[in-house]
Amino acid sequence: MRKLVKHLLKNESALSEVELSGWVRTRRDSKDFSFIELNDGSSLQGIQVVIDAGIPGYDSVKKMNTGASIRVLGELVESQGKGQSWEVLAKEVELVGEVPEDYPLQKKGQTPEFLRSIAHLRPRTNLYGATFRMRSRLAYAVHRFFNERDFTYVHTPILTASDCEGAGEMFRVTTNGAGKPEDDFFGKATYLTVSGQLEGETYATALSNIYTFGPTFRAENSHTSRHASEFWMIEPEMAFCDLGGDMDLAEEFMKFLVKDVLENNEGDLSIFEKFIDKGLRDRLEKLAASGFERMSYTEAVERLLQSGKQFDYPVEWGVNLQSEHERYLCEEVVKGPLTVYDYPKSIKPFYMRANDDGKTVTAMDVLVPGVGEIIGGSQREERYDLLKAAMEDHKLELEEYGWYLDLRKYGTVPHAGFGAGFERLLMYVTGMQNIRDVIPFARTPGNCEF
Ligand code: 4AD
Ligand code: MG
Repeated sequence: MRKLVKHLLKNESALSEVELSGWVRTRRDSKDFSFIELNDGSSLQGIQVVIDAGIPGYDSVKKMNTGASIRVLGELVESQGKGQSWEVLAKEVELVGEVPEDYPLQKKGQTPEFLRSIAHLRPRTNLYGATFRMRSRLAYAVHRFFNERDFTYVHTPILTASDCEGAGEMFRVTTNGAGKPEDDFFGKATYLTVSGQLEGETYATALSNIYTFGPTFRAENSHTSRHASEFWMIEPEMAFCDLGGDMDLAEEFMKFLVKDVLENNEGDLSIFEKFIDKGLRDRLEKLAASGFERMSYTEAVERLLQSGKQFDYPVEWGVNLQSEHERYLCEEVVKGPLTVYDYPKSIKPFYMRANDDGKTVTAMDVLVPGVGEIIGGSQREERYDLLKAAMEDHKLELEEYGWYLDLRKYGTVPHAGFGAGFERLLMYVTGMQNIRDVIPFARTPGNCEF
């Protein structure tokens, strides 16, 4: 049976019979032997295969060039060379798929931009292989975190008629193009979801603690390294919970994920440390060990004004914090993760709970160095009349949201939740600088290849 390289590298003892397959990374030939570094994507490290000139299949060794796929039968033996514990002495080799000379991954050190243009091949490189193994493990850790805390996983719809964030950044879904919405497939205008929150709330007010984890779409025309048109979001929602409990959960969540990455990364962290961010492990260890600072929006604005710094976007109470402000606050002011809470009502969506000051709502954002906003959440307005008034202020069509108001009519409860951008979490734990490099196939304005 085929074994994965990651298991062979960790094997306790020699094995007389092993079968492995993968892609050739490098080959070196001497008179009587060839040496192949074989990688099957199961770990950062590949394994050395030693091929004696006399064995079956040796004829095709000359075609086992970088990128070719091969199958090997052999023996797992202690490695003679430095740095590796085990190698494979081949008894039989087979060329499974050959590779012509135009294979684009011959050379090392290609730019991220070039690799994005060959996103179908980039997972075969060390850095991207590590990134996407990390992505998979981080997703598993997300599910583990919520499972261990009795949160129920809810699959909220991707096709929806409601605009949760009220920002009008939705992709329209239609089968009749420019025709009237009434004549369209669903008999009304429908979109790809920008957030599963509203539907998530319906399940939290039945099952108590729930979370969603799925694809999310935003038709916002921002060309930044942190925005994608399709990304994955994790959205917990808790009944009988206030903003304090929400901020606590966000912090516990971040720490859990970071500890998981530090403990279970199959050696992948080392490549991010080497090529992307020398201080990565220190930064992650520090986050796992210390509490997040908290600061109200009002104080955050004061700190920005006191800084005397010239920002591209001037700051005054009431403006949306821009990425430069968020990064200044966590990178320069608190030098670590920071949760900002109680934002002006005028810049936030309709569903956030009004504070008694009449000016702010119970919103919170978690900001981290290097990335900026990584989590955004709030306590929700659970009071029927206040919610209805807020919906009217935001010019929502009340008939469309009757079901959402019903949650406040029938046994309403204080509740709160947040949304965590999965790619931004991944950027934080890998140090990768561009969101396009942590999602397998990035969708951004003007770009929907593959
Ligand atoms: O702050 P946002 O817009 O909040 C919501 O959607 C709420 N409904 C969440 C909730 O309370 N249940 O988005 C949440 C997070 C952001 O903090 C960010 O990490 C990520 O989603 N995000 C994006 N990630 C990549 N590309 C984009 N265009 C993103 N927009 C938001
Ligand atoms: Mg936000």
